[in-house]
Amino acid sequence: MLQQFWHNIRRTKRDFSQEEGHTLHRVLGVRDLTMLGIAAIIGGGIFSSVGKACASGGPGVILLFILCAIACGFAAMCYAEFSSRIPVAGSAYTYAYASFGELFAWIIGWALLMEYSIGNIYVAFSWSGYFTHLMENLGIHMPAWITTDYASCSAAAKLPNPILQSREMLAWKGAPVFMGMRIILDLPALLINILITWLVFTGVKESRNASNIMVAVKLIVIILVIGVGFFYVDTSNFKPFMPEGFGGVMAGVSAVFFTFIGFDAVSTMAEETKDPQRNLPRGMFYSLLVCTVLYILISLVLTGMMPYKLLGVDDPLATVLQFKGIVWLEYLVSVSAVVAMASVLLVFQMGQPRIWMSMSRDGLLPQKFSEVHPKYKTPAFSTVITGLVVGIPILFTDENFVLDFTSIGTLFAFVLVCGGVLILPRKEKEIGAFQIPFVKPFYFPLIMLLVQGLILYLSPQFFFEQFHNPVMIGYWSLMVLLAILSLVKDWNLIPVLGLATCGYLLTGMTANNWFWFFVWFGIGLLVYFAYGYKKSKLARG
Ligand code: ALA
Repeated sequence: MLQQFWHNIRRTKRDFSQEEGHTLHRVLGVRDLTMLGIAAIIGGGIFSSVGKACASGGPGVILLFILCAIACGFAAMCYAEFSSRIPVAGSAYTYAYASFGELFAWIIGWALLMEYSIGNIYVAFSWSGYFTHLMENLGIHMPAWITTDYASCSAAAKLPNPILQSREMLAWKGAPVFMGMRIILDLPALLINILITWLVFTGVKESRNASNIMVAVKLIVIILVIGVGFFYVDTSNFKPFMPEGFGGVMAGVSAVFFTFIGFDAVSTMAEETKDPQRNLPRGMFYSLLVCTVLYILISLVLTGMMPYKLLGVDDPLATVLQFKGIVWLEYLVSVSAVVAMASVLLVFQMGQPRIWMSMSRDGLLPQKFSEVHPKYKTPAFSTVITGLVVGIPILFTDENFVLDFTSIGTLFAFVLVCGGVLILPRKEKEIGAFQIPFVKPFYFPLIMLLVQGLILYLSPQFFFEQFHNPVMIGYWSLMVLLAILSLVKDWNLIPVLGLATCGYLLTGMTANNWFWFFVWFGIGLLVYFAYGYKKSKLARG
């Protein structure tokens, strides 16, 4: 029955994507997709958020990069399997629709909103920070009240001992007052959002060309930082490796995981891809592979060049180069950060409307969301709404909140995608299409025992602490359950490991992250029952 259901969904989705007025231009090859993946991955994370992760975890943050890469690698395999079976725009949303049905698909679509749109709010803030820094270097001063977000300034002013010279306090004190309200806004973040929305609105081909140039620039600069930085590494900075224990390393989970988000954005471009069954999986793997290698090297260089405590800044790459007096490269990094982050904004702003387009085709959103512009062949209405969803919160949220929110939402989406692969019916291998190789679940309990053994060997203290931590007790209990289920149901080991690793990263989230996640989740359910439940294609038969 499940097989029939899945088959029908796939056929309907494919047919719909061919309908008059719903076709997009198929222009993207595997190289473009890899470039798009890299464009989405390297951005605000490595240029900005990892600073705080290094400061809390010390050089041990390298382990977190490896852990996140492993989790993303498994998730990428699951995305690849789905994208080659259902080569239709919509990414994890479409896959959840096919494997779990409408309600779960809605939930995942709602979670992807956190990844694509909320994530872009963080990147827009980071972009603005580097842009302002760059302008300052060029002698163009912008007052703090037009380059800082309101929420951070108001929070800073409420501190018992506010730091008077901080950017936030300078903005708070210097802001003009209108009808009793301080006017404080991050204008560069708003303007870059408008520019990107316009670029995406006018066509994927133009966006692709712009994105390829941006990717080339950031790759060159990152490789330069690694190459030059390597000669400045002082190995004494690697000791102690985990100054705050593994707990300190895990405190950086949102920041480090955020650096990897993006390879999945490739799967939203299915309908603009030539031979998607073959090219989408490759685009995802290649981009993830390139970025993983670069990230591991750069985390080594970053933590080796400077005492970890000093890295807790918003621009760690520039700071480390300044610390070593490599001024020419510091300047280049600032320029490329501005470029790199613009490309992240571009790819996510292209992805979100395509997810909405798919949701609208299924009747979960009004039909307007799937309309394609007659001239530009882009989902025009959805693109403008995305611009508003990113742009309006820029006026009243703060960056740390959106960073955590994005990471928890994306991990949740990855967990659902790995789970979805487990219940897909097995199928014959199709020539040219990607399929996850089947590995017996028998190895799962052995791998779990091996991991525990490794933890005991590396950090006996951390090993025993796990048994006093309710979150870890819950996690390992779920793993035992997963092991039993996978043996009974003969599940493929690879998606099971995807569930285990993404689930492990979720254990690093704070109670506050979970609170806001469930609030968001509740709002999503309300919207679904108020609209999609009654109006969807399935509801109408
Ligand atoms: N990985 C993307 C970035 O770091 C979201 O900006």
